[in-house]
Amino acid sequence: MIHNVLVTGGLGFIGSETVIALIESGYTPIIVDNLFNAKESVLGRIEVITGVSPRYYRADCCDENAMRKIFAENKFDAVIHFAGYKAVGESVEKPLEYYQNNIGSACVILKLMREFGVKNFVFSSSATVYGVPESVPLFETDPVREATNPYGATKIIIEGICKDFAKADPSFNIALLRYFNPIGAHPSGLLGEDPNGIPNNLMPYISQVAIGKLPVLHVYGNDYNTVDGTGVRDYIHVVDLAEGHVAALKKLDAGCGLVIYNLGTGKGTSVLELVKAFEDANGIKIPYQIEGRRPGDVDASYANCDKAFKELGWKTKLTVEDACRDAYNFQKKNPNGIL
Ligand code: UD1
Repeated sequence: MIHNVLVTGGLGFIGSETVIALIESGYTPIIVDNLFNAKESVLGRIEVITGVSPRYYRADCCDENAMRKIFAENKFDAVIHFAGYKAVGESVEKPLEYYQNNIGSACVILKLMREFGVKNFVFSSSATVYGVPESVPLFETDPVREATNPYGATKIIIEGICKDFAKADPSFNIALLRYFNPIGAHPSGLLGEDPNGIPNNLMPYISQVAIGKLPVLHVYGNDYNTVDGTGVRDYIHVVDLAEGHVAALKKLDAGCGLVIYNLGTGKGTSVLELVKAFEDANGIKIPYQIEGRRPGDVDASYANCDKAFKELGWKTKLTVEDACRDAYNFQKKNPNGIL
């Protein structure tokens, strides 16, 4: 039975939410984070929400010796590997850093799992592995296409490493979870997305416009082949996404080899529809202006999530409006991010 779960990147946006979901489902998460993109104070906030202060190590997953000590001190039953660099634009400027950090850390973790006989692995993959989709919705059986940036390439390569690894040793259970666009925050307003500097992603940008930290939202393109010309994505509430990890662990526990799931809502929402949902949910106006397209963006990307529902019994419960309300609540309570 899976009980002790190593969560790498467990103080980050999705990692911390998953730690809460794990505690609430009776698991014992143990967190490793190097604080590259997270704050140690998240630990205290997890305790306020759950009443539990999880064991935490400040360590870098690329540091094999440090990680070996952590594996030796604990008896892990499973690993959920969130730790990694994730900024698309930055990955274009610093490809080597992205390849070394993301692929290096995944290899260290898998190697130590083999060494210590930890047989269950969940990897944070992304819808980016589908590249420029030929059609939507996207199914897990759709081809993995050429990455549009080094960040995406690391996800594709790590998926490949996992597949080869599982083939070499069929006693391993591995879930590749392809996230669509995670948004929202914990309803308490204690945890949420806290990007460094000016946000690249849509929801944190809208939230910062909402509190007056940024003057206006730039909408990148209104000439896409979509309902209103703006880009369509599958926005999933981070609390639902976290639950998806708990569901995946149960699947691994039953013994499944390598499995792949889309984690999304199955529903596409355009940029302007998201703006409207944010305005309606929070009773405020978001000023925006239309700009040219952002390089590398696609018209539409949303998931078919039937497989996750059939095989994991998981589907999203929260709406885009819920996510807009929770994101705004978090932003208001943490105008300068998590300190
Ligand atoms: C990107 C990554 C994805 C990653 C995700 C993290 C790619 C191609 N995409 O998704 O892998 O997992 O970030 O959440 O690798 N937009 C605006 N104004 C803004 C920001 C965004 O109009 O200020 C639009 C974009 O053009 C797009 C939509 O909003 O249509 C969503 O953009 P974003 O939040 O950045 O996510 P993705 O690019 O879909």
